Order: sequence, then structure tokens, then C-alpha cells
Amino acid sequence: MAGTPTSPDTEAAVEAALGKLDLEAKTRLLAGQDTWSLPALPEIGLESLVMSDGPIGVRGVRWSADDPSIALPSPTALAATWDPELARRAGTLLAQEARRKGVHVLLAPTVNLHRSPLGGRHFEAYSEDPYLTGLIGAGYVNGVQSGGVGTTVKHFVANDAETDRFTVNNLVSERALRELYLAPFELIVENAHPWGIMTAYNTVNGTTMTEHHHLVNEVLRGEWGFDGYNVSDWMAARSTKGAIEGGLDVAMPGPKTVYGEALARAVRDGEVDEATVDGAVRNVLRLAARVGILAGAEPVVAEPPETVDGIELAREIARRSFVLVRNENQALPLKQGTVALIGAAARDARVLGGGSATVFPSRIVSPLDGLTAALPEGALSYAVGADPNTELAVADKGFELRAICRDADGQVIGTASAPNGQIQWMGTDLPEGVTHDRLHTVELTGTFTPRESGPHTFGIKGLGAFGLTIAGTTYFDDVQRTDKDDPFEAFFGAPVPCAEAELTAGEPVDVSLTYVVVLPEDVPMKVISFALAHQEPQRDPDELIAEAARAARAADTAVVVVATTDRVESEGFDRGDLRLPGRQDELVRAVAAANPNTVVVVNSGSPVELPWREDVAAVLLSWFPGQEGGAALADVLTGAHEPGGRLPSTWGSLTDAPVTRVLPEDGELPYDEGVFIGYAAWEKEGRTPAYPFGHGLGYTDWTYESVEVQGSTVRVRLRNSGTRAGREVVQVYLAPAEAEAGAERPARRLAGFAGVAAAPGESVEATVELPRRAFEIWDEKTASWSFVKGSYEIQVGRSIDDRRVTTTINV
Ligand code: BGC
Repeated sequence: MAGTPTSPDTEAAVEAALGKLDLEAKTRLLAGQDTWSLPALPEIGLESLVMSDGPIGVRGVRWSADDPSIALPSPTALAATWDPELARRAGTLLAQEARRKGVHVLLAPTVNLHRSPLGGRHFEAYSEDPYLTGLIGAGYVNGVQSGGVGTTVKHFVANDAETDRFTVNNLVSERALRELYLAPFELIVENAHPWGIMTAYNTVNGTTMTEHHHLVNEVLRGEWGFDGYNVSDWMAARSTKGAIEGGLDVAMPGPKTVYGEALARAVRDGEVDEATVDGAVRNVLRLAARVGILAGAEPVVAEPPETVDGIELAREIARRSFVLVRNENQALPLKQGTVALIGAAARDARVLGGGSATVFPSRIVSPLDGLTAALPEGALSYAVGADPNTELAVADKGFELRAICRDADGQVIGTASAPNGQIQWMGTDLPEGVTHDRLHTVELTGTFTPRESGPHTFGIKGLGAFGLTIAGTTYFDDVQRTDKDDPFEAFFGAPVPCAEAELTAGEPVDVSLTYVVVLPEDVPMKVISFALAHQEPQRDPDELIAEAARAARAADTAVVVVATTDRVESEGFDRGDLRLPGRQDELVRAVAAANPNTVVVVNSGSPVELPWREDVAAVLLSWFPGQEGGAALADVLTGAHEPGGRLPSTWGSLTDAPVTRVLPEDGELPYDEGVFIGYAAWEKEGRTPAYPFGHGLGYTDWTYESVEVQGSTVRVRLRNSGTRAGREVVQVYLAPAEAEAGAERPARRLAGFAGVAAAPGESVEATVELPRRAFEIWDEKTASWSFVKGSYEIQVGRSIDDRRVTTTINV
């Protein structure tokens, strides 16, 4: 099975292979040969090991739309299903995608915690709760590995925000580490036996994570028995001796790393023990054996598993993830009648978050597409209302662009696709026939067909020398610079407006953006990263909102889709606030004033403030719903399926949120709140969020009848007291009656949950096993887990705030 240790035969094959390698070969194997792979070693029958992001699809080794990948809903959405089995099925699909693309190891899942709602990469992690995170992560890992593909649980550990992520020193107590940040990793190691882990960019308590002997060698490997490989986050490895002795097996990407020749030299000079190198090589060979690329070793999964229908599964996960947080007078499902669909994101769907999690799906179903297909002809109208893009966005609407590579003489040496007007070529990931030595310029060229007339703004994202020509006029011929030191700044930075051109709707114009390639010699990896950015003519925003309100007034129901943008939620930076960008709040208010039957769909990967939430009939959170999001939305709005999600994190305003800080001071970010993050912090501060952890409505009602505990098993009886079949997520919280002297404990914690389905009137039993860990705290004095005896209330319900039945136990 995927989740068990390797057999003695495999270990023997690994030892035999290791015995045949000399120091040079061993150290070469521990260093990326390029951006995504390790070198093959034909002398031992080892093929090159290929890795790829993760987590919602499998991008493959190229940043290109030429080889599309399924795009599943964002990890927050997967966690909102509260269903580890569904996460496992997502994993099986991703393994299928990985096998199709020749990928052996997926760089996922991300199991850092939602410590502050400002975390820019929040959408890519699961929850504020370590137990929910660990169980969803374990399901995912089990699924991927059951397809014979490795996982890399990341980012170990405390990479919970993006600000100064390469250098920040997170100061975290051992207790908070154990009870919160390490806990999901530990649960996954225990329940899914992952074949890999990725160590983070950040420092924890003074030691950078790629050199953290204590957390990697002592805790992860020593205490938990992890036997997979440990790969650095991309460019995170800093020193040869520190990294190898700190338990880092593989330094990525290559070819220039702290391993390879540098590591061989350190061994020859007596600075590093060869036995330490052997340990790392053993871990890589074991991984290779598991995924089936080491001759003489049986792969864990010999036969590819049954084919999964990716489109169907993407749609199922999306609708199971949508969280209906408000539904006054049963506004949903929609009654018959006309619908005014409003919002830029209803037409230009935002299906995934930005950064390394980006994949390029072969199709995207927008809310407009989904509802057009589901509603009778003539029932649907559409208005933009307000554009969330307050700055330039990727050039993805109306652009037909390709990249042309030329040498210094102007000869074409290769071409490639340029999805969304973006070029992101890392290391040797260059178009066919192109080498860094010969490459002199890259030109993004093609046409743009505007969908609206008026002044269109164009801009450039990237650093270096650029030329921008639109419809024959050159608007920019200069150099763009930055003072930031993130090596990926060209990718994550803001686009700069450079041209305004008056264009006519429907009339294509030529577009050309040329970049002169000048890359510093002394970098670990050559990255060519730039993009064309664009903004449509800005119509009078008041007029747009008035137009939307008119459309809403004329319809039976108004459905407004509000969204964040890739300048708000992305890897590489944190958020400044939790507001919806642009004038979307005003839009919702105007629509709600025009039509009391207003349903708001919130298309964001993580919490946003919803100041108008009491003024609308229904609020449905759709996360970044993946490529089939629009179809799933139609399923849920029309009532063909109920929305199945429950909040994996608390949603509230920034002013009320108890833990928000992501900005380091003098390079340090103290986690002063200790073990109180998420709901535990909201409860401690006595503050009421907009929507509590675990909250989410379906289309039926549930009556909780009884709870009893036998040993560690909690049995809950509940009845579907509504009028249609449904699924409920039964949540079990454990509340210590009194806190152990000296140890501050949260008022209650999630101790377990179970999904049950029932027909109308039917009564069902949910069973939940209470894990021993729920009764333990980390004792810093003895540096061990301490079981806290005493009286506990078992509280069972629909969210942390909606507790329906309780019982007391003494342990
Ligand atoms: C991200 C990782 C990702 C890696 C490779 C890094 O910047 O932090 O999550 O796997 O890049 O794309």
C-alpha cells in the first residue's frame, strides 16, 4: 500500500544502488539538474526524477498552456468539504495527471495554517485548525500516492505568511509549534506516510528551515519516523554543511546549488561526513524506488489505477465546497423566474490563486457559462456592475499571443505559447531549440481584439529592458527596475502601466512586447519572467453600478458575483486589508437596495469582509472554484445539488480579528499569541466573527437528538428534519472543564468530525473517534506531551458556535 513503509526488498535494492555510487555521483544526485528534476544515474538504472507543482493540478515542467492540466478548486475549498475521502479522490485524479505528464512527485499539499487572515497564500493552505488540515492533507496524500506518485508536504514549517518569506525569523514557542504548526505534518506522517516533505524559506527560532537539525532530524525523522525525502523550497538552501547536517536531502532547483560539487568538496575537505551524504542519498533512492524509477526495485503501485473523470470530479468538489453562510427566507435554491447575473467575475471567472499553484486548464466554465446552460432561454441577463481589477491585470481577454525567441542577429531560434501574456521560463525550461547562450530577445507578439471601445491601458510586469508597440505605435522603450530582493520579484511584482491606446471593439490590433534578455551570471537559476498586462477602458463606475441596479430591479432574483484579484491573493506577498477590491461593496449595496432577493456569491480563496451581509438574502462562498466552478455554481443555485461546505476558518473583519500580524520587525515575527489562533483566539478575546468556524447551511434541516460516549467513541444521533435529502458535517468539540494549572488552554478545540447523509425524516448515527492527542498539551518543561486528566464536555453541533448536544466525560 502507498501509506506503508517500504519492504525489506526495496531497502535492499536501495542499499545495493547506494553501494555502487562514488562520492561525485552521490552528491550530483542531491542537486537539481534543472528547475524540476534530478539527474539520471544510468550506472545504477536510475531514471531522472521529475517534480511539479501542485496543489490543484499538475502544471508539468513548463509554464505553458500547450500541455494543460485539470484545475481543481483551491485548497481552502477542498478543506471546506470537511471530507478526507473526497480529498483522497482529488489525489487520485492528480496522480493520474502526474503520470500522464511524466511527473513522479507532486509539490503538494500545502499544510501551513491560516494564522492571520492577511496571509497572501491563504487560499493554498487548508484551515486555521491543525486537525482539519491534517486530515484533509492525509486524505490528499493517500490519494496521490495510491496512484504511485509521490507527495511533498510543504512548507515545513511556519511559512504562514509571505512578507519577507526568504528571511523572516518566526519566533514560535515549542508548544505552539507542537500543538499547531507541526501538528498537520505529524498527522499526515502518521496517517498517510508521505514520500516527501519540503522545507520552507523562513527561519524558525533563529535557524533557517533548510538547516533545522532539531525540527527535521530530531522531530520529523526521529520522533515521527518520517522516511521520505526532504527537498528545499526553490532556492531556499543556503549553505552546504548547514543544509546536509540539518537534514536537507535535495537542493532545488539546479544546476547551481549548494550540493553537487560543493558537497563533494566539503566531504573531501573533511567538513562533512560521507555517512551524512549517504543518508540523504538513501532517502532519494527510496523515493525513486517507490515511484518506480530505480531498476531492481518494485514500485509501490505497479498498475496505474482506474481512470478518474477529472471534469466530473472538479465539479463535484466545487459544489461540495461551496459554503452557504446566509440564506434568509430560503432565498436559495432559486425559484423559477428571471435572474440578473452581475459582476466582472461572473463573466471572467477567477478559478485559481496566483503563484506557483497556477496551472493552465483546457477550459474554464464561468458563472455566466454555467447559468446560461442551466436556466431556460431568456431567463438570464448580465451586467458587469463593478470591476474588481483596480490595476492592470494579466492579458487574458481577447489576446492571441505567442513568444518568438531570437538570437543576437535577429534570427528566430524558437517559439512558444504565452498563456495570459505571461512568460515564466525557469532554468532550462526554454522553448524547443532555445538555449540561454543564444537567446537574445523574447518578443510577445500577436493580436488583441478589444471587447469594448475606448482607451485601453497596457503595461509591463517584469524587470529589464522592454519595448512595447500597440497598433504600430511604440509606447515604451526603456528599462524597468526594482529595489526589492525577492528573487521572484519579476513574477510577483506589480505591473507598470506604459501605454494608453484608443481602440475599437471587435477590431483586432497588432501587439508586440520585446524583452532583451540580460541575466546575471551568478544566479542559481536563470529565470526569464515577464508579462503583458492590460486594463479595459474604465466606464464611469457610477453608471456601471446604476446599470446593474436597473438590471436587478427588472429581475426576480439578482445574483452578484464579487471577487478578489491576483493582485490581492497570491503567493509572494500578503494582503493589506480584507476588503473587496474596487467598488464591489457599493455594487452589492446598490443591487440589494434594488432587489430584496439578492444572492451574493463570494469568489475568493480566503476571507474578505462582507459589510453588507445582513442586507442581502443569501451569501454563498465559492472560493477559487477550479475550472468547472461555473457549472457547479449553477448546480447549487438551481438546487440540483445542495452546497456542501462548512467554513474551514473563521470569517470576520480585520479590526476584530485577534491575530493579524504578518509584518516582521527587524527581521523577526513573534507568534506572541501562542496556541491561540483562529477560533481559539476569537473565543479567548470574546469577539464575534461574521461567520464562525464550521458554519455552513445546506438545503435541509437537521435535528440533533443525542450524544453518548463509549470509551473514545462518540455516537451522535441526528435526524434530517427538512424536506429534502442532505449531507451534514457533524462536528465534535472538546472543552476542558477547567484549565490545568499554569497551562492556558483554548476553551474548546475541534476533536473530530463525520459526514452523514440522510433522506427527509431519516435518522442517522454519526460516530467519531476521539484522538488521544485532543486531551494532550505540550509540556515545555518536560519537552513531552502531557495527558491532561479531568472533566471534559463533548460538544456536538453544526459549528463552533452552534452546539446542539453535549455530554460530560471524565478521563
Ligand atoms: C513555492 C513552492 C513551490 C516552488 C516551486 C516556491 O516559490 O514556495 O510552494 O513548490 O516554488 O514552484
